[in-house]
Amino acid sequence: MMKAGELAAQALALAGRHAVAGISTWELDKIVDEFIRSKGGHCPCKGYGGFPGHNCYSINEELIHGIPSKRKILKDGDIISCDIVAELDGFMGDNTKTFKVGTVSPEAERIMKFTEEALYKGIEQAVAGNRIGDISHAIQAHVESGGYRCAEKFCGHGVGREMHEDPEVANEGKAGHGPRLVPGMTIAIEPMVNSHSRKVNVLNDKWTVVTTDGSLSCHFEHSIAITDGAPVILTLESH
Ligand code: MF3
Ligand code: CO
Repeated sequence: MMKAGELAAQALALAGRHAVAGISTWELDKIVDEFIRSKGGHCPCKGYGGFPGHNCYSINEELIHGIPSKRKILKDGDIISCDIVAELDGFMGDNTKTFKVGTVSPEAERIMKFTEEALYKGIEQAVAGNRIGDISHAIQAHVESGGYRCAEKFCGHGVGREMHEDPEVANEGKAGHGPRLVPGMTIAIEPMVNSHSRKVNVLNDKWTVVTTDGSLSCHFEHSIAITDGAPVILTLESH
């Protein structure tokens, strides 16, 4: 899991370095796929439920599951969420960051700050003896303290030999509720945050999830392991 996580994190960082004005999300996806394959891994999102890309790239009001496209070209002021999954030696690493393209608005800076902080508030709760609801509650509380809402319908998940395993890790919930966390569990925590309303739509391409009001959204994700001690972030560029 650490090796797969490391590869996913390196691929995500690579995507971030290439996320500059003028590049298309198709080109970004190609760079990421070639890197992951060069390290002996592959991209399990390709073909997952028919998904046409290797990974997901979502710009501005696009929250998640953006399909790589030659027609989606980054421009100064955009924010882009790169959601990268790598499989290596039978295990999955899943992580997401939202990157700035050039100079972005203060609103974009702020939603990025709150979303990333919410991820770490969730991770702090990922300790043995706590419950999934403790993670959900910590994320929700931080997101709402910024005046934002976690998006409806989508959540984090167990991760391991499969990309999506039990349990669900909701971004809203009650402390003290849900499955108990035990050492050895590995989960993906992924706050998906909208500027105003929690409502989302899926576009006609059947994948891209957008805010219904067209306002900005943001997404950060790590795969983590529950241990006897502090949570271990698996999706780091080096361990
Ligand atoms: N990476 C996403 C997640 O965090 C899943 C991508 S959906 C797919 O769970 F269709 F692209 F695979
Ligand atoms: Co995920």
